[in-house]
Amino acid sequence: MPGYNPKVDLITGSPTRRIDLLREKLAKEGRDVILLSTGQPGFLPPRRLREVLAEMLLDDSDRQLYSYTPTPGYYDAREAVAEDLKLLGGPKVDPDQIVLTAGGQEAMFAVLSTIIEPGDKVVLFDPTYFGYKPIIEYLGGRVVWVRAPLEEGFQPLDEDLKKAVESGVKAVVVVTPDNPTGRLLSEESAKLIADLAVEKGFWVIVDEAYKTLVYEGEHVWLYNLAPDNTLAINTFSKDPGFPGWRLGYVYGPEWVIGKVRLVSEELVYCPPSIAQRAVTIYLRDRRLRMSHIEEARRFMVERRDAMISAIREYMPDAAFVKPGGSMFVMVDLSSYLEGTGMDSEDLARALLEKESVAAIPGVYFGPSSRLRLRLSFATESPGRIVEGVRRLARLAESLRGG
Ligand SMILES: Cc1ncc(COP(=O)(O)O)c(C=O)c1O
Repeated sequence: MPGYNPKVDLITGSPTRRIDLLREKLAKEGRDVILLSTGQPGFLPPRRLREVLAEMLLDDSDRQLYSYTPTPGYYDAREAVAEDLKLLGGPKVDPDQIVLTAGGQEAMFAVLSTIIEPGDKVVLFDPTYFGYKPIIEYLGGRVVWVRAPLEEGFQPLDEDLKKAVESGVKAVVVVTPDNPTGRLLSEESAKLIADLAVEKGFWVIVDEAYKTLVYEGEHVWLYNLAPDNTLAINTFSKDPGFPGWRLGYVYGPEWVIGKVRLVSEELVYCPPSIAQRAVTIYLRDRRLRMSHIEEARRFMVERRDAMISAIREYMPDAAFVKPGGSMFVMVDLSSYLEGTGMDSEDLARALLEKESVAAIPGVYFGPSSRLRLRLSFATESPGRIVEGVRRLARLAESLRGG
């Protein structure tokens, strides 16, 4: 049998994809599954944007819409992104400091494979987004976990951060607002990470997928604190809400962006043309942009609050932190699961099979989350979210009762 690269086995596959497959199987059997698993927004992109695009699709003279685009994306699309960052209160970057990518996922792979060499240590918070560990390990890097304890509102502790970077790391990955916890990194932690990065000479990879979905507090712009050391990963999958159109971007120092651009060329050749067109129209129409963000926030806050009150009402012994941003609540079910021999993976499977509710096992986000579930409020109606939590509570209670 011909061989293969065993490092591929370190790519274990996204747990959301796995739950999706199970859910599809159940749906075929006629089961109506409540989706507390996916980070896909339950709203559509703005109607006005879709109308303009529909007209473009019918314009026979518009050959460009179907063409290959430049590797880093169209200049005007990158210019629109640069203007948007500034108007959101973020950094002032040149369009040549931006590469548009096929979604945040490609941005993550392109960035990590640009900077990681075999043996490099990379700091991840425990818990953090499950997408980073497999890529780091596939590239031969080693994950150094820094705990972000629930009791601290999922903020990392200064002494842990200092200790983790003491022996030399290539990068620290920060997701803010965070998936799975909804935590916004504090200004103080951001400052510390930025100062350490400059002092020790490591990269800060900041994932800003949820930067416009902030409900309380302020998004901290790490690039402004350490511009020579920061690479920022972004996506248009969350706001404006077209994950299937695969568009994201990276910004950072121009010299390294030039290298990310070449990796991206090998991966996808160029980002999708229609999504670039959509984003350019969306970002340049400031009224449309800002009103859509407002609507998206309202949509999420209504669902977040429904989820939180349901957890408080039905699972009073569950521990969680109210998310200040993103689309998720990380709920700790230790008081229900301890002594049962079950972990979050067993719980998520039972929840889907017995109660028709999909959620993501916490264990994928880091070693501290073995008895936690990530619940998404991105998609379902407030009523179905409450019902999903009620069913989870029923299952958790029955386990505790033996
Ligand atoms: C924190 C974070 N980064 C990156 C991604 C990947 O984004 P995309 O869907 O655009 O590939 C996601 C998707 O859920 C995410 O939550």
